[in-house]
Amino acid sequence: MKLLFLILAVGAATASLEEEEYIPSYEGAKVYQLAPANEEQFSELFQYYGKEGHDFLRTSRALGDTTDVLVYPDNIEPFENFLAESGIQSSILTENVQNEIDEEAARQRSAPKANGRSISFNSYQRYDDIVAYLRQVAANNPRVASVFEIGSTTEGRPIVGLKLSSGGSNKPAILIDGGIHAREWIAPSSVVYFINQLAENSANSDLLSKVDWYIIPVLNPDGYEYTHTSYRLWRKTRSINRGSSCRGTDPNRNFGYHWMDVGASSSPCAETYAGKTAFSEPETAALRDFVLKNSKTIKLYLTFHSYGNYLLYPWGFTSALPSNNAELKSLAVQVNKAISSVRGTRYTIGTSTNVLYAAAGGSDDWVKGVGGVELSYTVELPGGGSAGFNIPASQIIPVGRETFLGIRVFGEYIADKFGK
Ligand code: ARG
Ligand code: ZN
Repeated sequence: MKLLFLILAVGAATASLEEEEYIPSYEGAKVYQLAPANEEQFSELFQYYGKEGHDFLRTSRALGDTTDVLVYPDNIEPFENFLAESGIQSSILTENVQNEIDEEAARQRSAPKANGRSISFNSYQRYDDIVAYLRQVAANNPRVASVFEIGSTTEGRPIVGLKLSSGGSNKPAILIDGGIHAREWIAPSSVVYFINQLAENSANSDLLSKVDWYIIPVLNPDGYEYTHTSYRLWRKTRSINRGSSCRGTDPNRNFGYHWMDVGASSSPCAETYAGKTAFSEPETAALRDFVLKNSKTIKLYLTFHSYGNYLLYPWGFTSALPSNNAELKSLAVQVNKAISSVRGTRYTIGTSTNVLYAAAGGSDDWVKGVGGVELSYTVELPGGGSAGFNIPASQIIPVGRETFLGIRVFGEYIADKFGK
């Protein structure tokens, strides 16, 4: 019997050794801000996109705009040689990413705790606390708020949303999600802030009477939790890739519309790994099924990411414009105007291929192209901190507040256009 245990224990240990995940250190990793000045410099820089050891934190295709790349220690010397040769203008945003991560972790630990009855915006909340808040809102406002689940994750977490509606049937609906990408913490926090405003601020009750809201603050909770416990800059899901020690798929390359056409990787170790097949991830399949089930009522889809201040709309797989480009653009212009009225925050507007880069398999493209929701946007919220994603928690409310003015514009537009 003892021997059997020993054999089992050794077997388990070697199995876990084989599958052990490589977690790179941020010690000595740097963030570069780069300003390619012409097409040649663009294409030279983009040879590093999706390459191991180089993490494009924020990317821009616009001339005169900047792209931020995190480079791991082993790759710094060759990358700096490349920069010198190419003549691309560069500056260093962060000398040592680990310092930024440590500072943020310390802020998270020292933040005053929530009182257990409401949500706290003093720090970035863990997934369980966000779900508890949604349940609390539903319990406190049973006539307008109800919790729903669209599925569960690889690690078995429920993917939870809140429906807000003050009655009436066949109303137009707006679907909002955040946290498709795990590390973009300001996205779930902003989406939770929207829930807080819609459900708990009576000044916004007009928005619930004319429109139904389906709001999912964290679409990728496995990844989100992993960024809190182990690996701050994790982007993908946490599924296991057979034959590879690298985990996860980029959920925003995993949607089944022009899947893998462009801007996505077939290597499981890449940040933009599109998955074994379209909808291989339970998280993306859950969103697909939810949209298909509600496709008659959903008129607008908003998916929140960070960072870079972009109001993006389809397509991400082609530079061709969608047939309702004019409407998508003019609505975004109004939203931008409302947001910028608070403290001057400005967004760049356009199709994601034309203002960012071509990347197929995004949720925005699928929701429009297959889900039939004509109005579909990816919102890249503001960044902060010197690694972009580590925008201080003191910005949760300022970002939430200004962005909510944009949510109001979206809501009023849908109410006017589709409401009875
Ligand atoms: N930063 C986002 C991403 O890379 C932008 C997605 C825009 N939409 C798209 N379909 N490419 O996933
Ligand atoms: Zn993202």
